[in-house]
Amino acid sequence: TWTTASVVEESVAAIRAQVGDAQAICGLSGGVDSAVAAALVQRAIGDRLTCVYVDHGLMRKGESEQVEKDFVAATGVQLKVVDAAKRFLAALAGVSDPEQKRKIIGREFIRVFEQAQAEVVAAAGETGAPVRFLVQGTLYPDVVESGGGTGTANIKSHHNVGGLPEDLDFELVEPLRRLFKDEVRMVGKELGLPEAMVQRQPFPGPGLGIRIVGEVTENRLDLLREADAIAREELTAAGLDRDIWQCPVVLLADVRSVGVQGDGRTYGHPVVLRPVSSEDAMTADWSRLPYEVLARISTRITNEVPEVNRVVLDVTSKPPGTIEWE
Ligand code: XMP
Repeated sequence: TWTTASVVEESVAAIRAQVGDAQAICGLSGGVDSAVAAALVQRAIGDRLTCVYVDHGLMRKGESEQVEKDFVAATGVQLKVVDAAKRFLAALAGVSDPEQKRKIIGREFIRVFEQAQAEVVAAAGETGAPVRFLVQGTLYPDVVESGGGTGTANIKSHHNVGGLPEDLDFELVEPLRRLFKDEVRMVGKELGLPEAMVQRQPFPGPGLGIRIVGEVTENRLDLLREADAIAREELTAAGLDRDIWQCPVVLLADVRSVGVQGDGRTYGHPVVLRPVSSEDAMTADWSRLPYEVLARISTRITNEVPEVNRVVLDVTSKPPGTIEWE
């Protein structure tokens, strides 16, 4: 019978059998799948696994720290963190078009990751065992879907930012290939990963870069990070995390509206709350959040986030709207 403990045990044995005495490398995206895959492999082969985390500067508040500190604390994994925020910002300068942004972020990510990977491989070479394996958090639904391909795949370029180019000379280790998402969460819990990491809602690889309508700048990222953190905090406090699929917060950086705040007139930006409920993100409905929760989020954002003087609610289902604005 299926128990989480037996899945962990079997996976660990299978990974040991596959990897032997070699070393492995794993890219962490901040998401559940790569974290659980890495934790499993770490359990199996210890410090012969090295994880690489590329911080593109487009993460939400606390997320990079979660990977850098909490994940390492929970697993003891060897982690290489690459701070690439400046590089991503430079590459995104002057760009407002959503597809353009996605392509740039995907491209830069691969470049930085490959570079970091080469460094890990070079450093490992000195210590002996070759780095022959690449760990990926592929789930059962990914395996099934890659056989068919979905009709909506081309609506937006979904760069699998945890993913890698195909001409790499590695064998894949995919310990989650037979699991569904809820099972992966259980395995993560069993392995002692932090609750916030295991229960994390979907978050797009291109991060906050596609939640700023307009050019991505450091200042705008800071504003959005604050607004997003407030929304997440209040939704969590209200016990709504399990009811909603996710709630993107979008900064309309190219829009301004007049407000009255503190001593007088302001001319600031709106943020959009986009809470949705969904089964698989292919379709979605806007979440009917309690008015009191919306009110608290709105009051706090307009009080606490400079330059934001209006909070609006997106009441569009998918279709016709996508979940993300870009
Ligand atoms: P859309 O906006 O297409 O989003 O309705 C559907 C789901 O996918 C997430 N999303 C992404 N995830 N890389 C990802 O890993 C991406 O480029 C990307 N774009 C959207 C989105 O958050 C939602 O859950």
